[in-house]
Amino acid sequence: MKGLLLAGGTGSRLRPLTYTGAKQLIPVANRPILFYAMDAMVEAGITDIGVIVGDTRDEVMQALGDGQSFGAHITYIPQSAPLGLAHAVKSAREFLGNDPFLMFLGDNLLRGGLRTLADRFRSGDYAASILLTAVDDPRQFGVAVLDEDRVVRLVEKPAEPPSHWALVGAYCFAPVIHQAIDQLQPSWRGEYEITDAIQSLIDWRLNVDSTRVEGWWKDTGRPEDVLEANRLILEDLATSVQGTIDEDSRVTGRVVIEEGAVIVRSDIRGPVTIAAGAVIEDSYIGPYTAVGPQVVIRRTEIENSVVLADSTIEDIEERIDQSLIGRGVTVHGGSRRPRGLRLVLGDQSRIEV
Ligand code: DAU
Repeated sequence: MKGLLLAGGTGSRLRPLTYTGAKQLIPVANRPILFYAMDAMVEAGITDIGVIVGDTRDEVMQALGDGQSFGAHITYIPQSAPLGLAHAVKSAREFLGNDPFLMFLGDNLLRGGLRTLADRFRSGDYAASILLTAVDDPRQFGVAVLDEDRVVRLVEKPAEPPSHWALVGAYCFAPVIHQAIDQLQPSWRGEYEITDAIQSLIDWRLNVDSTRVEGWWKDTGRPEDVLEANRLILEDLATSVQGTIDEDSRVTGRVVIEEGAVIVRSDIRGPVTIAAGAVIEDSYIGPYTAVGPQVVIRRTEIENSVVLADSTIEDIEERIDQSLIGRGVTVHGGSRRPRGLRLVLGDQSRIEV
C-alpha cells in the first residue's frame, strides 16, 4: 500500500503564522506537525509516500528531505492550486498507479496512529475505509451515517449534521476511487471533495468501511487547536536534559532541555520542552510550554504556550498564558515612562492586553 500525505493548501485560519510558512510545519512540542504524520505512516507499514505540495513546497521539501530520516521514500507531487482533497488525489494519479493507498492530511495529529485503519483495510475487500470520531459539533467536518461499521452516507460540512461521526483526515482507498473522482463536480465551496467521491462509491454499492479513532485526534487548523495539540503531545513527554542548568535554577516534572539550551536563575515546571540554543534567564516556564530553537526569554513568566524559533521575550510583567508566538517575534516589556503600549503587529495579528 502506498501513502499520500497532503501538505498543500493555504492555512488561512492560522494567519498570520502561515503568511511566512506552511501550516503543516508549525511545531508542536518542538516538532513539525508533518513529522508526526510521517511517523504514523511508517509505523503503519507504509514507506512509499507521495507528498502533495503547493505554494510552500520549498519549505516542505527542505523539512522532509527524501524521507530517509523517517525510514521512508518520498516522491513530491506538485498540486497546481488547492482545489480540494479529491483534486490532490488526481494530481497524484501517476504516482499512485493501480495501488491501494492511505491518504492522510498533513495538519492532522492522531495519538493512536494509522495502523488499525491500514490493517483493517488490508484484511478486507473494501473500496474505501475511513477513520471516524464522535464530536460535539460536526458542522466543520465531513460527517458519516453508519450501519454498524458500514458507511451508508457521507456529507461534507453539513449545516444540519445527520450524526456526530466526524471524518478524521485519514482514508484508505482501492484504485476504484479514481473513477469516482473523474466524474466529480466542484462542491458549493468550489472544491473537489473526497467526501463526495466516497459517496459515489456508496452509491455504486461498493463496500465502504469505518474505524473509530483510538486515543485522541486533533485537526490543527486554528491557533487554539495548535495549543491543544501541544498540550496533548507534551502529556507523553519523556525527560531528557542535555542543556545547561545553573545552580540557581529549579527544574521539576517531565522536561526536555536540548543540548545547547541554557537555563539561568529560572524555574521550569514540566511538561516543558526547550529547544537547542534557547536562553532562559530569570524566568518561569510553566506546564505545557514549548520553547523553540534560539528563543530568548528573560524576566518573564509563561505557561501553556508555544514560542517558535528565534523569538525574544523580555521584561513582561504579567504572566503570558495560552499564547502562540511566531518566528522571529520580539515582545519587550520596556521600562519607559509614561508607560504605554508600543506595537508593531502584522496583518491579522491577535493580541490581548
Ligand atoms: O480535518 C478533517 C477534515 O478535513 C474532514 O472532516 C473533512 O471531511 C475534509 O474535507 C477536510 O476538511 P478541511 O476543510 O479541514 O480541509 P483543509 O482544507 O484544512 O485541508 C486539509 C489538509 O489538506 C491541509 O493540510 C491542507 C491539505 N490540502 C487541502 C486542499 C483543499 C491540500 O494539500 N490540497 C488541497 O487542495
